[in-house]
Amino acid sequence: MIEAKGVVKRFGPRTILRGVDISVATGETLVIIGGSGCGKSTFLKCVVGLLRPEEGAVTVDGQDIARCGNEAEVADYRRRFGYLFQEGALFDSMTIWENVTFGLRYLTDIPPARYRRLAREKLAMVGLKDIEDFRPAELSGGMKKRVALARAIAAEPSYILYDEPTTGLDPIMSDVINDLILDLQKQLKVTSIVVTHDMKSAYKIASRIAMLHEGRVLGQGSSDDFKASADPRIHQFVNGLSQGPIKMKLKDYEPDAAEGA
Ligand SMILES: Nc1ncnc2c1ncn2[C@@H]1O[C@H](COP(=O)(O)OP(=O)(O)OP(=O)(O)O)[C@@H](O)[C@H]1O
Ligand SMILES: [Mg+2]
Repeated sequence: MIEAKGVVKRFGPRTILRGVDISVATGETLVIIGGSGCGKSTFLKCVVGLLRPEEGAVTVDGQDIARCGNEAEVADYRRRFGYLFQEGALFDSMTIWENVTFGLRYLTDIPPARYRRLAREKLAMVGLKDIEDFRPAELSGGMKKRVALARAIAAEPSYILYDEPTTGLDPIMSDVINDLILDLQKQLKVTSIVVTHDMKSAYKIASRIAMLHEGRVLGQGSSDDFKASADPRIHQFVNGLSQGPIKMKLKDYEPDAAEGA
């Protein structure tokens, strides 16, 4: 299981996470929602160990990456994870099959001679065919997203962190990806954290939803709990309403009336 306790993450003078407590039981899919810039991607990076929290800790099956004594332990920690980066993070100079299988030499004992075929299988799982020899520049945005997804699942990890898996996909392909996430959970008992803005997807795949707001978990519960939430901030967010207690701060970026005068 994944357990985050009191996670505080600062970037210079700005505190993004102010004490996040989240636990994800084995086999569960936890969906994290929250406003743009609230720290969702930052939280995922703390879980996988790409960022180190200033306070608090994240443990995975009882192991804390901050306490790993040597490189072998760090590698052993990371090996358990598949990570879908929000921006895809494909290597432009590599072919698609090389991108999909990039992590395998570090993560698995699979012989390189099998990589191409394995890439083909994983690409088929995300609905892509005959693109193994393309390069990322030759694909559409949604195709790149799916290649990144194929890479996240290539080493058959026990934990998958998905940062916006359906953003930029058409509604039907989004649902194909939702089904894939559900299948991985049900058949392979994968434990996942999914960050998404897509509430339809959240309701479909979540074992549980947690909303991050102002650096902390504002509320947690089932999809039904969130649909019926009496918290006005959760209600506003899940229904996508511009009016409510959560104020959009566009005005902060506009010059003061006094400034132009
Ligand atoms: N490496 C970094 N250095 C400095 N600031 C950072 C860094 N990474 C993230 N931030 C800041 O932390 C805040 C949270 O960013 P993060 O990417 O976690 O947001 P998010 O919730 O994933 O947003 P979105 O929904 O738009 O993807 C932002 O204000 C961002 O500028
Ligand atoms: Mg993000």
